Amino acid sequence: MVKIAPSILKADFMKMEKTIRKLEKGGSDYIHLDIMDGSFVDAITIGPKIVGDIKMITRVPLDVHLMIVNPDKHIEAFADAGADNITIHAEAVSDIKKSLEAIKNKGIKCAVSIKPNTPVESIENVLEVVDMVLIMTVEPGKGGQALIEDTLDKVAALKKIRAEKKYSFMIEVDGGISIETRDAAVLAGADVLVVGNAITSQKNYKKVIKQLKGI
Ligand code: DX5
Ligand code: ZN
Repeated sequence: MVKIAPSILKADFMKMEKTIRKLEKGGSDYIHLDIMDGSFVDAITIGPKIVGDIKMITRVPLDVHLMIVNPDKHIEAFADAGADNITIHAEAVSDIKKSLEAIKNKGIKCAVSIKPNTPVESIENVLEVVDMVLIMTVEPGKGGQALIEDTLDKVAALKKIRAEKKYSFMIEVDGGISIETRDAAVLAGADVLVVGNAITSQKNYKKVIKQLKGI
């Protein structure tokens, strides 16, 4: 069954603990944390301190999505804070393999992400080593945007490569995923759906998460 990684990007940060409890009870497989630095994307969000505080109150694995320039500099801090998975952007590093190895060396899972206009070919040389590939289905930077349909072609292409080469990475999609768009993403081959607005704008997280899982 497809896994759900709710993003708390648009949630009320003053009610963080309550939000996390609702997500746990609702059946979240991960909690997706969007780290933005005002440079790689315009917005600024949270750093390792908040990641560490969240880690203290939950056992749900933390899926940390770094939308920052020079992620290499911060991998250690986010790993030490309690990230279970760190995703770096291919567009943000000069040597993707080296950055992924730095994450692996911290004993956690590593993932690489590509923006809507970045082709799958740009990450082909790391597909053998990566635990997960995150296909951005919107331009990174903010929640609540509409899914860009043709990004799902990259999900299908990755699924094909994985089968042909017998690789084992998971495929995650992020941006504009809702009850309406989840079928297309799952059909294309997504294993993990990051969902922000479609969950945190609702009162009953459990109900939405169930629908997103297709139950
Ligand atoms: C966007 C972030 C996403 C965002 C998704 O840059 O990477 O994780 O929170 O939000 P929705 O589901 O609202 O598009
Ligand atoms: Zn994200």
